[in-house]
Amino acid sequence: MSHGLHIFRNCFKALLSRPSVLKTMSELAEKRRKDGGVVVSPNLGGLFGDTEEFVNEYEVQELDIAGTVLKIRQFSWHEANANKVWPGTFTLAEYIVEHMDTYRSGSLLELGAATGALALFLRLPQYNLNIITSDIDDGGVVQENIAHNFALNNMACVPHVEHTWGEPWPEQRVPAFSFTHIIASDILLYVKAYPALVATLDMLFRAGAREFLMSWNRRLSSTPLFFARMQAAGFIAEALPHCVYSFTRPTTRNAEA
Ligand SMILES: C[S@@+](CC[C@H](N)C(=O)[O-])C[C@H]1O[C@@H](n2cnc3c(N)ncnc32)[C@H](O)[C@@H]1O
Repeated sequence: MSHGLHIFRNCFKALLSRPSVLKTMSELAEKRRKDGGVVVSPNLGGLFGDTEEFVNEYEVQELDIAGTVLKIRQFSWHEANANKVWPGTFTLAEYIVEHMDTYRSGSLLELGAATGALALFLRLPQYNLNIITSDIDDGGVVQENIAHNFALNNMACVPHVEHTWGEPWPEQRVPAFSFTHIIASDILLYVKAYPALVATLDMLFRAGAREFLMSWNRRLSSTPLFFARMQAAGFIAEALPHCVYSFTRPTTRNAEA
């Protein structure tokens, strides 16, 4: 079975096995509207055949990320929106490039890496950052697409950790103390997941992380809830250019001592 067909089969199996399965095109359109209406290509609509079976279409696009064109395979659908590149990827890439000295010496973990586009960019020879990717535990769908995208650009893939926020961290895969900087773009869509996301960040900071760097430029009414939760957990937020926020927690190490 070809690689593409294997992905289709995995995605289709996931669709059938989940109660949130999208059965009609209008449901898909409505979900997109709620996600903010970001559409990568008119071709990536997904198809329903005669039997009404959803086909998760994909397309390889050339995306200019902070001045470098990368080939990225994007799908029409993923249960948690990991199918495509979101706008925050571009702004976070620009911010990190402008502050390369800070991040070159660190070890980075990307949460919600989705297509892997940002990690791929940060692994380019001219940056070569020490980064690993992470995303929701979806049985390998995201991980496979990230590996595919690294291969498309003739680059060796970075390690990937399947981890759903709030769940125990898989220490045996990569110890939680491995990271100095946690990065993420556009991951505040999920209000119900805020407590779990903050719990994961709390765990990573207790293990040694020094900064959570996040791009977010949406004006969702729920966004302040995330900032309030972070503040309650002892984090200090700093708004930076490019719609980027830096969270630090000066007391983490003292609290642990
Ligand atoms: C809107 S997408 C952004 C993707 C990517 N960062 C970008 O900017 O292109 C949000 C990402 O968060 C991940 N995510 C959502 N809920 C999650 C959860 N509960 N645990 C871990 N990851 C989650 C999704 O799988 C997806 O990759």
